[in-house]
Amino acid sequence: MSRIVLAVLMGMAMMTAGMISDAQAADAGKGKLVYAQKCSSCHGKEGKGDGPFGKNLTPPAANFTDPAGTAKKSDTELLDKIAKGGRGTAMPAFKSLSADERANVLAYIRAMAGK
Ligand code: HEC
Repeated sequence: MSRIVLAVLMGMAMMTAGMISDAQAADAGKGKLVYAQKCSSCHGKEGKGDGPFGKNLTPPAANFTDPAGTAKKSDTELLDKIAKGGRGTAMPAFKSLSADERANVLAYIRAMAGK
C-alpha cells in the first residue's frame, strides 16, 4: 500500500472519530456562536426573551431562564421546536442547522438557564 493511500485512510479514520465525539457531547461554547447570530435578536442576549424583535411578538419569544417554563421541558421537545419551529408562532424552523448544531445551541440555552 502506498504511503499516500495510508495517509488518506488514517485521515478518514481520525475525522470519523472526531465526528462521533462531537455527537456525544453537545458543546455549549459552539452553541453560543449560533445563538448570537440566529437567536439572540428574539430571545435576548441572556435568553430572557427580551431581544429587540422578540419582546413585542404574540406570543413573545420564550424566556429560557424562567424556571417554570423552558427549564421544565425535555431536550426532545425543545430540539423538535428548534428544528420544526413553533407552529403558529414567530419561532422559525432552523432546518439549516445540523443535528449537532441544534444540540449545541440547546446546551447553551440550558447553560443560560443555569442548568
Ligand atoms: C423571529 C424570532 C425568533 C427567533 C429568531 C428565534 N426564536 Fe425561538 N421562539 C420564538 C417565539 C415567539 C417562541 C415562543 C413560541 C413557542 O414556544 O413556540 C420561541 C420558542 C422557542 C423555544 C421553545 C421554548 C419553550 O419553552 O417551549 C426554543 C427552544 C427556541 N425558541 C429556540 C430558539 C433557537 C435555538 C433559536 C436560534 C437558532 C431561536 N429560537 C430563534 C421566536 C424566535
